[in-house]
Amino acid sequence: MHPALSSSSGLIPTSGLILGIESSCDETGAAVVRSGQDVLSNAIASQIRTHAPYGGVVPELASREHLQNIVPVVRAALEQAGCAFADLDAIAVTEGPGLAGALLVGVMYAKGLAFALNKPLIAVNHLEGHIHAVLLEAKKQGRLLALPTLALVVSGGHTHLYLAEETRGTWHYKNIGKTVDDAAGEAFDKVAKLLGLGYPGGPWIDWLAQHGDPRAVPFGPITVKQKPYRAQQKQIPRLLFSFSGLKTAVLRYVQTHEMAPRIAARRVALADIPDAKPSDALPLCDTETLNLIASFQRAVVGDLARKTFAAAETFHTASIVVSGGVAANRELRQHFLAEGRSRALPVIFPSLELSTDNAAMIAAAAWPKFVAGDVATEILTAEPSLSLG
Ligand code: KG4
Ligand code: ZN
Repeated sequence: MHPALSSSSGLIPTSGLILGIESSCDETGAAVVRSGQDVLSNAIASQIRTHAPYGGVVPELASREHLQNIVPVVRAALEQAGCAFADLDAIAVTEGPGLAGALLVGVMYAKGLAFALNKPLIAVNHLEGHIHAVLLEAKKQGRLLALPTLALVVSGGHTHLYLAEETRGTWHYKNIGKTVDDAAGEAFDKVAKLLGLGYPGGPWIDWLAQHGDPRAVPFGPITVKQKPYRAQQKQIPRLLFSFSGLKTAVLRYVQTHEMAPRIAARRVALADIPDAKPSDALPLCDTETLNLIASFQRAVVGDLARKTFAAAETFHTASIVVSGGVAANRELRQHFLAEGRSRALPVIFPSLELSTDNAAMIAAAAWPKFVAGDVATEILTAEPSLSLG
């Protein structure tokens, strides 16, 4: 039994400090969070430069970078928080979902650390972490989130809808929607790559879309042909997302409008600019390209909003939270907030810093588990396909 473990009702906090560790994809993160709400530090080592030449995450390279970065990132997190290992109440780590080799680095490091320090280890689902990015900031601001809430987790790997509820300090999730093919972030990344823009594509499309006409290319509503999946309860078709058809429609538009030479020229020009930013691409994009980008983004955002608000209505949720990398998208934020206002339904986003992958959200999600004594055992391993609810 851990020294901090009480006999029946979980762990007794001494400092309330949890060190969170995140390594599920291409960011190595470490953060110290007090009592699930005070972010004392949130250190991150991004691998964007490593993967950018490939236009996507290369799993083998990601694992190697995590291995190099994890010790300095944890040190930086402790230093910024002004605390030592001995001050921590627990170590929390992302166990999945994500890339196997990437997850293993964080899990093995966290296990070793917990063992050496004789501190409890808490395993966190990355998706739950994204939801807690919103909850931690709401708690910090003293805002009570109306429950049940509908959580849209929209990132490079997921486009999932969850009903989330808390009973006596424990959070429960029920999956009520998912993508049948590409995640929304994946579609942003693939379309950006197709158009010769930088990686990851979301921020490039977000920025360039402001300069195009979103009505120029009428993509039409996204319909999902597959049968609705039946997981734990009856599903309805409108809760299924699909973005691969839209990506193909962009490809067809590019072909029929003979855009390939312009794309190739843009790719070459951007490759010559060190640390190219989305604004560098503006003079390299003609009106037709900017209109295509804006129309694509409008189609994705419109579809996410339509289905999310329909789900909120069907399941009578009292609020909506949106998190994950795509939640950083400007048009998505504006659209969801306006729609929420018109329906008197609170819609809450994390700050931009906590929208994309980070370890503060992992430490925050670990807090209720710590208090409940929900501690990982020594056989904890990486779970690349871990689901939530
Ligand atoms: O949550 P995240 O950092 O990692 C995953 O768990 O996948 O999300 C990364 C994804 C990428 O696909 C990236 O292109 C997208 O989030 N993203 C955006 C924006 N910022 C990041 N997509 C649209 N607009 C943005 N501003
Ligand atoms: Zn994520």
